[in-house]
Amino acid sequence: MPQSASNQAHEMGDAKVRVPLGPRSYDVVIAGNLLQRAGEYIAPILRKKRVAIVTDENVAKLHLETLHHSLSKQDIEFTTIVLPVGEKTKSLSHFGDLLDQLLAAKITRDECLIAFGGGVIGDITGFAASTLRRGVDFVQIPTTLLSQVDSSVGGKTGINSPHGKNLIGAFYQPKLVLADVSLLDTLPQRDVLAGYAEVVKYGLLGDFLFFEWLEENGHAVVTGDTAARIQAVKVSVKAKADIVAEDEHEQGVRALLNLGHTFGHALEAETGYGSNLVHGEGVAIGMLMAMMLSSKMGHIDGQDCTRVTTHFSHVGMMAQLPAINGLNWCSDTLLSHMYQDKKVDQGKLTFILMKSIGNAFVTQNVEKQDILDVLDQFTNHTNKE
Ligand code: GLY
Repeated sequence: MPQSASNQAHEMGDAKVRVPLGPRSYDVVIAGNLLQRAGEYIAPILRKKRVAIVTDENVAKLHLETLHHSLSKQDIEFTTIVLPVGEKTKSLSHFGDLLDQLLAAKITRDECLIAFGGGVIGDITGFAASTLRRGVDFVQIPTTLLSQVDSSVGGKTGINSPHGKNLIGAFYQPKLVLADVSLLDTLPQRDVLAGYAEVVKYGLLGDFLFFEWLEENGHAVVTGDTAARIQAVKVSVKAKADIVAEDEHEQGVRALLNLGHTFGHALEAETGYGSNLVHGEGVAIGMLMAMMLSSKMGHIDGQDCTRVTTHFSHVGMMAQLPAINGLNWCSDTLLSHMYQDKKVDQGKLTFILMKSIGNAFVTQNVEKQDILDVLDQFTNHTNKE
């Protein structure tokens, strides 16, 4: 009988978190120098010893040889497809090309895809896996902090449309996730900090003790301490796994994972989803805005807001809107972006607000003027500089 990833992780001393979804349950293994051992984890879950690796040009340059070597050691055959770097790759045309390449490589129903990259690669590969020959298995090997703690876990896959982000996709769970924190050593610091926003998010939305731990250890996490990174990824993945297990298709509690996202998506839309403001930075500022809104509405103590802002600054995260050449931040424009978001429900915006650090809730009961006041506070600060 094939050995499960859980048993293997135990034998190898690696941390692992189970995502319990009945017949679709899987393990997330978290460790340093895990890529070298990826083949040992992947071999037992394969029905046929042949896989297609989907990656991007940056990851290919840095890490592909290590993955190839690790698969070869287990006699796993592979074909590799390298996609361009960046959010533009999550398009219908790249998706079509990817499916064509997988079919040309004769990937059959009992073979497996490996998504080897950040959120873009995970999302497009997972979606390809959900549709190729009506569904093939896939494994996630996330290479960014953001994808290790968020997008590789929980089965949200998809691509963008000219009508908006992630509007085409499927809930489709991987068979295994291998989060190698050593891969973060080659990640630009800006991307580490953007991913760290999603780590803090778990503390803010449901785990005060984790937030306290991050106050002590967040600096070690962002500067490259392996043990601190393993712990931060493990706690984050466990928090996400618990929520996904309760609400896989986002009918309720999973919405808490969108803390900071209603504001954050508006900031991303205004800056064109590009390098002026990456997703994690939008989420970071969005979480501070959500907290300010919570404070304005009398839900949370102002001291909690100060405490979180102080933590952001301490680790080097963005705590204010960035000054961007040629852009005058405008509250009304940001508000109109919010109303175009796919999560607007019968004209109502949904917000995740906080009662205290570690205690968030979902509501649509928010006054437009309060939102504008919060936006004004941030836009005025940056426009005045
Ligand atoms: N990234 C939010 C979710 O997976 O639900």
